[in-house]
Amino acid sequence: MLVSFRRLRRCQCVQLMTTCLVLSLVMVYWEQLDNNVVSHVKSVSFRYLVNRFSLVNKSLTIPREQALIFSNFPYLLNHPKICKNQDVLLLLFVKTSPENIQRRKAIRSTWGNQTYIQESLGVTVKVLFVLGATVASDSDSLDPQEQLKFEDKLYSDLIQQGFSDSFHNLTLKLLMQFHWMHHYCAHARFFMTADDDIFVHMPNLVQYIQDVHSKGITDLWVGRVHRGSPPVRSQTSKYYVPYSMYQWLSYPDYTAGAAYVVSSDVADKIYHASLTLNASLYIDDVFMGICANAVGVSPQEHVFFSGEAKAPYHSCIYSQMMTSHGHVEDIYDLWKTATRPQVKVEAPGLIGKLYCSLVKVALLCRPYYVNTYPCKAAFS
Ligand SMILES: *[C@@H]1O[C@H](CO)[C@@H](O)[C@H](O)[C@H]1NC(C)=O
Ligand SMILES: *[C@@H]1O[C@H](CO)[C@@H](O)[C@H](O)[C@H]1NC(C)=O
Ligand SMILES: *[C@@H]1O[C@H](CO)[C@@H](O)[C@H](O)[C@H]1NC(C)=O
Ligand SMILES: *[C@@H]1O[C@H](CO)[C@@H](O)[C@H](O)[C@H]1NC(C)=O
Repeated sequence: MLVSFRRLRRCQCVQLMTTCLVLSLVMVYWEQLDNNVVSHVKSVSFRYLVNRFSLVNKSLTIPREQALIFSNFPYLLNHPKICKNQDVLLLLFVKTSPENIQRRKAIRSTWGNQTYIQESLGVTVKVLFVLGATVASDSDSLDPQEQLKFEDKLYSDLIQQGFSDSFHNLTLKLLMQFHWMHHYCAHARFFMTADDDIFVHMPNLVQYIQDVHSKGITDLWVGRVHRGSPPVRSQTSKYYVPYSMYQWLSYPDYTAGAAYVVSSDVADKIYHASLTLNASLYIDDVFMGICANAVGVSPQEHVFFSGEAKAPYHSCIYSQMMTSHGHVEDIYDLWKTATRPQVKVEAPGLIGKLYCSLVKVALLCRPYYVNTYPCKAAFS
């Protein structure tokens, strides 16, 4: 009995090794066949079988003097004293562009209203808009930089550095956020970065962060996690990354750049990692993953942080949502309905819970439905 069991084990072992060998041969010879499936199989294999992300770290490490060029742009607009002598729970950066005036306005008067947060939620959250420099064109009747200065006089919440504001400079914007925190707001308990078309359910988020904070949790990096994502090698894609920039089959784990939160100890580590890394990889959330990988921090998933799409409109969702992506026009309405005090108590008791579970299954677990929250969010 024992003998046959051992033999069985050995058989299985040989089988497994053969499979691995065949798989790796297949992987090597499929190099030319660069389609989606293959690149995903390769990247997931790299992530789960090879897992040599220390090589990534090594290949992107550069001397400090050279890394400096990615972060030593002069500040064109700054508020160095804005955190001073305040107990800041959350430092929240919104990545914006000079022309997105309406989006900033909407955020200020909805989820980013700091007076509201202070008065209703009893905590200090600093919401700052980070942007690069404008590229002035002759057709502008008003100098865009003058317009920004005017806006900043009114609201004192723009942080601007002198690199040109563009998609391919997003990583510079990311570095700017960690550097700014390090220099001017290192005592903030948490750091968050978000797109300017995001909706943040501030009451839920603050409650979550307070909860994490009261438990004394450190080493936190939370958002919608991407594991084993392959670099996009198709030149027509917005996210195209050439081999010369990133040679590996898979990116280290990272959270979707739409919105994520880190604790201050992690923010500090990321800052230090960024001092010796080549930041020319322009996909900012991926670069965050590379920094985190260099200092041994891994992201954790929260099912109510969204990735690409908008959350379904429903009060059963509102009571748990953290962020939802792609909101511009509807942000005022959503803010009003999603933060009504009734949302929390609309479905009380066991019946209410059951009802909401069914609703969430119907909303989130449809096949081929591009959702924001995964199906498993229905059961949490
Ligand atoms: C922010 O909230 C406060 C208090 O709720 C309110 O008085 C103020 O009008 C709001 N600001 C904006 C820009 O909506
Ligand atoms: C990024 O900013 C730098 C500094 O302003 C500029 O030279 C460069 O062209 C920008 N890159 C892109 C891709 O816009
Ligand atoms: C950083 O990487 C880019 C390729 O993405 C390369 O051209 C550049 O030389 C590297 N910088 C340093 C300082 O090694
Ligand atoms: C990444 O590289 C830096 C510099 O070489 C090193 O200090 C650090 O320990 C490395 N991290 C990992 C996880 O290998």
